[in-house]
Amino acid sequence: MDTDSSRVESATNLSGLRGSVLALVAVADTEEALEQLRTELLGKKGQLTQAMKELGSLPVEQRKEAGQALNLIKTEVEQALSQRIASCAAERREAALQSEWIDVTLPVSAPLFTSTGTQHCLTRVRRELEEIFRSMGFRVVDGPEVEKEYYNFEALNIPATHPARDMQDTIWTTDGNLLRTHTSAMQVRALERLEPPLRIVGPGRCFRYERLDASHEHTFYQMEGMMIDRDVSIPNLIYFMKRLLREIFGSEQKIRLRPGYFPFVEPGFELDIWFQGRWLELLPCGLVHPRVLESSGIDSSQWQGFAFGLGLSRLVMTRYQIDDIRYFQSCDLRFLKQFA
Ligand code: DAH
Repeated sequence: MDTDSSRVESATNLSGLRGSVLALVAVADTEEALEQLRTELLGKKGQLTQAMKELGSLPVEQRKEAGQALNLIKTEVEQALSQRIASCAAERREAALQSEWIDVTLPVSAPLFTSTGTQHCLTRVRRELEEIFRSMGFRVVDGPEVEKEYYNFEALNIPATHPARDMQDTIWTTDGNLLRTHTSAMQVRALERLEPPLRIVGPGRCFRYERLDASHEHTFYQMEGMMIDRDVSIPNLIYFMKRLLREIFGSEQKIRLRPGYFPFVEPGFELDIWFQGRWLELLPCGLVHPRVLESSGIDSSQWQGFAFGLGLSRLVMTRYQIDDIRYFQSCDLRFLKQFA
């Protein structure tokens, strides 16, 4: 019954009120329950808010004292609520940590293990070739896939007006750069950075705007090679190419040289190998054009060299008898797993 006397009693029986509300806070054990309790005690219609209003009915001399006491209780309850909420949150986080904890040092279970990836066949052969070249004193270099026109064409003796540009359908970027159409761009970067004598190979991805079919892909791999030294001539070129092919195929390969035209070499050749009853075009090469040397500040009367552009994708296709170049980029697991 809400009589004057009961109001006075509830407002004055403050220590009882304090004990009971703090007990409520102490037993609430979730953040939600505590928030709910906060509303029930301190909200607009909350028990303590209500008690504060009821103080008005007390005689003036009691009112002040009771008001102060009630304010203290409110502060105390607020603090108790905040503490409990914080400790519930900490407990919840700890429980989550415990349940999500994994021991990364434990051995991997068998099912996970079988789904581990394998090296792509292109990567495998590329690494093999890098080793072969390192053993012959070559250094493996790298260059950007988005290239400047200068490195991809100009410095390789292919000026803008040169018809050879039409041989390589180029993908240009809007800022006037391009996706390198061949790894030959790395020749120039190497010549700029390294002092002759030098031997480098530069494997990498190349891009052309191609009509796609079983032997043409917009993305393919080459490995550029270059050796600059004194008195380098065609016999040196042939020696290295034959040795390379012997290492790759495991035995001496029958080869033939045909004239080939590439503006950055003079003379230029197509080196074909006899493979499974037919000639296979695999290794375009030649003696580095003096203009290429000169444009990188190398005195071509002192230094000469050879260069080659091994078709890495084509080599891998030959070696594993892959009949469609598009498998390389297909991400098809049935293809990839064959090289596990
Ligand atoms: N960069 C040429 C291409 O992609 C291939 C090439 C030919 C590279 C002759 C060479 C070379 O280094 O000497 O068509």
